[in-house]
Amino acid sequence: MSGKFSGSQVEEIKSRCDLVEIVGERISLEKRGENYVGLCPFHQEKTPSFSVSPEKQLYYCFGCGASGDIFSFVMQTENISFTEAKSLLARRAGVVLPDKTGGFSHRADKQKAMQYSLNRMAMEFYQHILLEKPAGRKALQYLENRGIERSSLESFGVGFALPGWDTLLKEAVRRGHEPRDLVEAGLVVAKKTGGFYDRFRNRIIFPIFDYRERVIGFGGRSLEEDERNPKYLNSPGTQLFNKRRVLYGIEKAMKEIRREKKAVVVEGYTDVILTHQEGITNTVASLGTALTQMQAHLLRAQAREVVIAYDADSAGEAATERGLDILKRSGCTVKVVSLPSGADPDSFIRSNGRDAFEKLMDAALPLTAYRLNKIKEKYDLNRMEDRLSYVQEAMPVLVSINNRLEKEEYIKEMAEELDVSEGALRTEIKKFTQKQRKEERKGNNLGKIEQTMYIRPNEIDPAEKVILSLLFVDEGVFNRVVERRKDISFSNNMEKIFAACSKIYEMGSELKIDRLRDYLSDESLYGLVASIGFDNPWEGFPDEEIMRVVDDCIHRLKIKKMAEDRTLIEKKIKKMELAGGQGETIRLLLAEWENIKQAEQELCGEGKREG
Ligand code: GTP
Ligand code: MN
Repeated sequence: MSGKFSGSQVEEIKSRCDLVEIVGERISLEKRGENYVGLCPFHQEKTPSFSVSPEKQLYYCFGCGASGDIFSFVMQTENISFTEAKSLLARRAGVVLPDKTGGFSHRADKQKAMQYSLNRMAMEFYQHILLEKPAGRKALQYLENRGIERSSLESFGVGFALPGWDTLLKEAVRRGHEPRDLVEAGLVVAKKTGGFYDRFRNRIIFPIFDYRERVIGFGGRSLEEDERNPKYLNSPGTQLFNKRRVLYGIEKAMKEIRREKKAVVVEGYTDVILTHQEGITNTVASLGTALTQMQAHLLRAQAREVVIAYDADSAGEAATERGLDILKRSGCTVKVVSLPSGADPDSFIRSNGRDAFEKLMDAALPLTAYRLNKIKEKYDLNRMEDRLSYVQEAMPVLVSINNRLEKEEYIKEMAEELDVSEGALRTEIKKFTQKQRKEERKGNNLGKIEQTMYIRPNEIDPAEKVILSLLFVDEGVFNRVVERRKDISFSNNMEKIFAACSKIYEMGSELKIDRLRDYLSDESLYGLVASIGFDNPWEGFPDEEIMRVVDDCIHRLKIKKMAEDRTLIEKKIKKMELAGGQGETIRLLLAEWENIKQAEQELCGEGKREG
């Protein structure tokens, strides 16, 4: 190999890094048997189906099919290229790579490296102005008045961008940077008429870090409450900055979130800074918008419980509502803090202190209670019509409660509250569920895949399981099974899986676990198939050996089919005898029974001779 990374280096990196350790930094893993399992970082789930094999140094998700080794894991979780993953792991493993730039050898990687360093440079520049320069004094004063201490400003890297059009631009150029690169990093804007100007002017600058403390973007708060000026201006989307992925404060909150398995999500920059300053260090912000799928993912990987403490205004409530759904679907336990109207965590802490905020957090309502409360607030429960509307609107909330005991509690409470019988309420719920089911059957409901994913591999015959695992190893196996198909009967599950395999073979494609998913008529079987593919003991077995094993399995299934047939006949005979049945039919059945018995004996003997 002629490239910068020869195969041996890859091997060396592999041998010095431990996948379990690297995955363990992202999600919590538990040892189960020989493997470690945890919640998959690549899809949303409630039950762990992500498995890491320390021996093979491979991971596999029974839920979504994600799989790979240490390199693919780092690439996928860090959103980086193979080259970058290699250099990252090399650094970690202490493997020295010949490339002096540290392995950022592809153009895209170089650009990213450049953007990180430009961002860091800009952060330090803005910070210097805020903390050291007279021109930053007004902004500093403003921040101090808002109760933000100097140590917080320093640790969050807060800075100030001067009002001028090209302060940063000039400084960067003086240091030898290209304006074009500053544009790429989102720090500078190119004028249509040629020339450039600073994106952030006369704004307090909040740098945004990724969890590895690299500066990926900025948020700037205007000092002037001005109609023409947005209150906050963020970096545009760049190679590093993706608004939908960002959790402001994650680099400081990660440790505590992991320790407590609990995260607090707020809306804004100042909410994060104030809560951290007061020692509540598991707080992150979704930056004003509703939580995205991606953010929920990131949180779910570390936390079991997420507490939402959004602004108590209508925007905050709408964002809470949307975020709740996403969090719940990702499998988090969600609670909601109710702040007094108009407040946000920042202002609340400033006027009421930390302890009062802690109390509010302790009183955070579970998702269901929060939702029911929100609905209730709209109605006057003294009025009959309002009570009916309340019940109707509350139905989806009640139905969505998975925990039975919890559901019972809510039903009881609501019946009391409305002064109706629990029975009547239950009838309504039943009606609602039936209607919902009907609708689900109409459309194909993706939500149910996850719940039905976990079928135990032992729900097929052990011999069938072996045949399945062999199918993935050797193409000849398929034909062999087809030849003997008439002698054996598959279980229902195996039948379906085999049908899917047949389709793939018919198309002349290679049989691959993830491809099989598209052809399975019953998606609940995917977990079964995936588990077989993951832990396939036959890989690397010699061909003749594989065929021998296949034949042996077919043999066993044949015997099994005969035993089943025989039992069926026995039952028939018994039934007839009990009914005082006809001699002729019974004699025929007995003869058949005799035949099978004999064939069975021959087969078993054959099996013994061979084995
Ligand atoms: P202060 O008013 O300084 O206390 O800030 P805040 O964080 O409380 O602001 P607010 O509650 O209005 O908004 C919450 C978060 O939404 C902010 O921290 C920003 O991340 C985001 N946000 C608010 N206004 C804007 C805006 O005009 N543009 C953008 N891009 N984001 C905004
Ligand atoms: Mn706010």
